[in-house]
Amino acid sequence: MGVYSEHHRRSITDPEGFWGAAATKLTWYDDPVRVLDSARPPFHRWFPDGRINTCFNALDRHVAAGHGDRTALIHDSPVTGTHATRTYAQLRDETARFAGALRDLGVGRGDRVVIYMPMVPEAVVAMLACARLGAVHSVVFGGFAPRELALRIDDARPKVVVSASCGIETARVIPYKPLLDEALGLAEHTPDACVVLQRPQARAELSSIDVDWDAVTETAVPAECVPVAATDPLYVLYTSGTTGRPKGVVRDNGGHAVALVWSMTHVYDIGPGDVWWAASDVGWVVGHSYIVYAPLLVGATTVLYEGKPVGTPDAGAFWRVIADHGVKALLTAPTAMRAIKKADPDAQLLAGHDLKTFRCLFLAGERLDPDTYDWARTVLGVPVIDNWWQTETGWPIAANPRGLEPMAVKPGSPTVPMPGYDLRILDPSGRECAPGQEGAIALRLPLPPGTLPTLWEDDDRYEESYLSRFPGHYLTGDGGYVDEDGYVFVMGRTDDVINVAGHRLSTGAMEVVASHPDVAECAVIAVRDALKGHVPRAFVVLKSTASTDADRLREEIVRDVRTRIGAIASLKDVTVVEALPKTRSGKILRGSMRDIANGGEGKPPATIDDPAVLEKLRQVLRKETAC
Ligand code: COA
Ligand code: AMP
Repeated sequence: MGVYSEHHRRSITDPEGFWGAAATKLTWYDDPVRVLDSARPPFHRWFPDGRINTCFNALDRHVAAGHGDRTALIHDSPVTGTHATRTYAQLRDETARFAGALRDLGVGRGDRVVIYMPMVPEAVVAMLACARLGAVHSVVFGGFAPRELALRIDDARPKVVVSASCGIETARVIPYKPLLDEALGLAEHTPDACVVLQRPQARAELSSIDVDWDAVTETAVPAECVPVAATDPLYVLYTSGTTGRPKGVVRDNGGHAVALVWSMTHVYDIGPGDVWWAASDVGWVVGHSYIVYAPLLVGATTVLYEGKPVGTPDAGAFWRVIADHGVKALLTAPTAMRAIKKADPDAQLLAGHDLKTFRCLFLAGERLDPDTYDWARTVLGVPVIDNWWQTETGWPIAANPRGLEPMAVKPGSPTVPMPGYDLRILDPSGRECAPGQEGAIALRLPLPPGTLPTLWEDDDRYEESYLSRFPGHYLTGDGGYVDEDGYVFVMGRTDDVINVAGHRLSTGAMEVVASHPDVAECAVIAVRDALKGHVPRAFVVLKSTASTDADRLREEIVRDVRTRIGAIASLKDVTVVEALPKTRSGKILRGSMRDIANGGEGKPPATIDDPAVLEKLRQVLRKETAC
């Protein structure tokens, strides 16, 4: 049996032994005596009697071990033309001071802090400062519109919001403060204070509840780390579900730290002193796990990049960053590679950049198509490693464990299930599928440490959304199969979640927005896109009283989705149809529509109401493809 197989087997047959050993890599105030608490199934808690502080493990313990001068963070910002580094000692001191400032504003253990910031070091400091106090941060991606921010503020009810005066998108300065003010106007909850980091590109006007980042930090007394229960929440990260209401994924302190140290070492092969770059955003799970927490927990150097793969200034930007900072491995989304490939198909902009330190490219966040895989492997000449995971799991479900036992790559597969993930492919009746047979990808409970223990203040929704479809299992929402060699193949979402350029969104939420006064009903589905993987497309049926002309109606729907969800929704295509295909009970056949729009047959279920409606839609879409 290989090293990987032995690890995986042990993690399933003896989870307490396996994860108990992994937990010894962290520093605890009270070592966990019990590893797994399964007294209240289907809820499972890891390290229930352990006490820990995540910030202490990410910063202070490295300083205490004599590594205070090691670089912890490199901020590389082509959009502002600046570079800055922080050593572990500097980042610890800055974080302790900002934690003191938050404490002065009344933030303590268990209080929530919403962070709405661009990719600046202060965003990382704010996250770690919350962890230091035992407060719960909830970072909201800067690309979300005020209404989405307001939904999250109302759910998390933060004591304080931390924001910045602006973000910078390529060459465009986006003032954040007006967006925050609008969100606070829409939200029912009002925080006690908003801390605003003033950036020179656009300073913000401060109102009575606003305080200036520099001013509060200057006078603050540094705060020490507060010991918390391993099961206490570290953060809540909202993610799109199938409805317009985002789900608050809860991450605990102990299990999270243990899983991230394990994965950083054994999946990504990154250790103390290595330079690691996750090109994502702190607003997404990749940013939480692999820009901020995992690299710092293992004592590596993390690159925080405020730029794009193309346009800042060109498609050579990623190669420049790797060469400038001696990056050992990069984790990004396939979309980023597709954008670079589109702008510079022969990778001519690689010339002049010395990538001698670069060992591996990891891609995640959406399906890695074989063309992108081949291109990246050929131009970079290093292994290109797919890994599959979700906001809910916080670390890879399936990956190629490069730091444990590098395995042969099969293009199209993120390789094998990681320890603790007892992966099953189930048919609609819950029976296990044979190798090669496609079904729902489910994970037998308990999930490993680091995965969501529940949704924020909503155990019922957690059970209903993930655990009720196949009792005893967590439903991933992805479909796929496992081949004869145990390799996992992820074929895509089986629900109304869509991944646009690696950004997870809900087509359900877009449908709500797309209900223009002239629209009788609508369906938004994911269609393939050469650059962004998938983009949303709306099909609308007009009311008989509709008075807006078709072009204006399209423009209005596109504008509404953009202003209410955010520009990242990328809904550009609205098609007016006479009717939507439905079952006899009135359910819209989104699955069949999705299949047809993506070039499939869109085989309808036996319960279809009027097959002619589906046929008409098929003709409309075929005509478009033929054009
Ligand atoms: N704040 C405000 N607006 C934002 C934003 C942010 N943080 N992030 C994106 N937007 C805006 C963009 O400016 C754009 O607006 P526009 O329609 O007015 O031009 C819109 O949202 C869509 O953005 P994006 O999806 O980034 O598309 P793009 O065409 O600007 O860029 C790529 C295409 C491929 C370069 C870009 O999507 C990319 O870098 N993808 C990698 C994604 C990634 O790392 N995902 C994380 C998961 S690992
Ligand atoms: P998010 O919660 O934003 O990380 O999105 C999770 C979803 O992205 C998964 O459920 C998958 O649908 C998709 N996804 C992430 N990584 C991969 C991958 N490597 N291959 C295929 N799909 C992926």
